[in-house]
Amino acid sequence: MAARFKGKVAIVTGGARGIGAAIATRLGREGARVVVFDIDREAGEKRVEMLRAEGIDAVFVHGDVAREPDVARCVSAAAETFDRLDVLVNNAGIGSSGRPVFEQTLEEWERVISVNLTGPYLFAKHAAKVMAERGGGVIVNVASTRALQSEPNTEPYSASKGGLLALTHALAVSLAPYRIRVVAVSPGWIDTSEWQLPPRKPQLTRLDHEQHPAGRVGRPEDVAALVAFLASDEAGFITGVNVVIDGGMTIKMLYLDDAVIESAVALLTGDRELAALIRRALAGGDLGRVKEALKAALGA
Ligand code: NAI
Repeated sequence: MAARFKGKVAIVTGGARGIGAAIATRLGREGARVVVFDIDREAGEKRVEMLRAEGIDAVFVHGDVAREPDVARCVSAAAETFDRLDVLVNNAGIGSSGRPVFEQTLEEWERVISVNLTGPYLFAKHAAKVMAERGGGVIVNVASTRALQSEPNTEPYSASKGGLLALTHALAVSLAPYRIRVVAVSPGWIDTSEWQLPPRKPQLTRLDHEQHPAGRVGRPEDVAALVAFLASDEAGFITGVNVVIDGGMTIKMLYLDDAVIESAVALLTGDRELAALIRRALAGGDLGRVKEALKAALGA
């Protein structure tokens, strides 16, 4: 593997598991010394142990991205332990409840905005100061395709990620004089099972994969490879932009899922039982049963 980060230092927020863990591992394998910041102490310590077992120089800092003292402590720890800071990956994030908008609470809205938007702002503010003093750096914000399009009942999450894209271009302009680039990546559906602690086996159906123009659901490694490129000197002419990494789902305009198929079949045939049967068959990944059910319905 290339060693584009030899001698460099990276902070990865939410680096204990999921996409953040894959990013921390990738940057570490390419030579970076890594600071894993996470609200889950046990998972963070375990991940750092795993990184060290691979020969990666890594430390764990426990904290909440939404709490400024925790953020300041993490940036100081990076600067003190490794004497520099080159890359910040604002990856930590939480989803929202999915409750209908009428039932969403102000508390939920504020927590999602705090973690997904205020957190990256605080980390950028503190990290950029250290980067500026040492001649520059790169900030990568992990947004989401949900910043650009929505399923119902996702207001707090979508708004937080939309805000993160605006924060990205605002920071890119403000920090350009200090030789700091700021970019966003927007993943689509990424199955993180294998990067959980303990790792899990992915539970994906053929339909999950095949509805993507790229032919499969994304993996944390896909996002990590993109982040590593954007954070490297090879991307020196890229700043302020958002790079979508979603296997082509957003250009396809429609997330086709079992529920959409069920309502489409019910609409087209007027047969709710058939629609429910097809949905159950799809959930089991059994396209053969769907074919049989359709044949039976059409009397073929
Ligand atoms: P995950 O839930 O597997 O991992 C998130 C990590 O962040 C965990 O280790 C968690 O403890 C940590 N974390 C949560 N709140 C924190 C806080 N307040 N302070 C510090 N650490 C905190 O999540 P996943 O799926 O790996 O997502 C990572 C990022 O990618 C998030 O920003 C998410 O919104 C974004 N994303 C994920 C997609 C997916 O399909 N998995 C799609 C698009 C975006």
